[in-house]
Amino acid sequence: MSAEEQKAAAGRAAIKHIRPGSIVGVGTGSTVNHFIDALAGMKHDIRGAVSSSEASTGRLRDHGIEVLDLNDADHLPVYVDGADEINRHLQMIKGGGGALTREKIVAAVAKQFVCIVDASKRVDVLGTFPLPVEVIPMARSYVAHELMKLGGQPELRSGFTTDNGNLVLDVHGLQIAKPIELERNINNIVGVVTVGLFAQRRADLLLLGTDNGVESITA
Ligand code: A5P
Repeated sequence: MSAEEQKAAAGRAAIKHIRPGSIVGVGTGSTVNHFIDALAGMKHDIRGAVSSSEASTGRLRDHGIEVLDLNDADHLPVYVDGADEINRHLQMIKGGGGALTREKIVAAVAKQFVCIVDASKRVDVLGTFPLPVEVIPMARSYVAHELMKLGGQPELRSGFTTDNGNLVLDVHGLQIAKPIELERNINNIVGVVTVGLFAQRRADLLLLGTDNGVESITA
């Protein structure tokens, strides 16, 4: 099975975790796109969606799914999103698509985080995928130096601006042995908006697309 087929299978599998009548938290990326397409099949059974990016908002609206402001969502039972890497504790690196800040906000509000990935995203130690850090533009150089002190090699994501008007530094060369500690340390650097480490708020359920079907894994 190709990675794309694994992503599609994981996206479809997430549908059975959506409660009729609820507002659905929707992440960003190619795996989530499969989930959105599947969600269209039950659009009359949900109240609407809260989206983590302009890209997902566009796709949801194209399917006729109402997109609500997070501030108007009284209760968000489930958030469905992909990941760039995920470990056995269901801690993740996210932000390959640059939507990390809104993703982290919606994930914080949701009661359950369902992560959907293909088998290639499963890792023993986080950090092979460069860690995205969203940064206020005027702080770019300062934050880059602080990230170097933590042992990383930051690289400005060229020609990219986030939905919030900020920059992304992709940090190479980190072997992330203590994800919660590193998340806290990077969040403490002045000028950092969000780090794409989802360790304090990890996933609650992993739907892993494999050659043998979709595995359900809890931490
Ligand atoms: C978007 O900013 C990311 O956090 C995505 O969730 C992550 O990059 C996974 O994307 P794919 O599903 O496209 O691999």
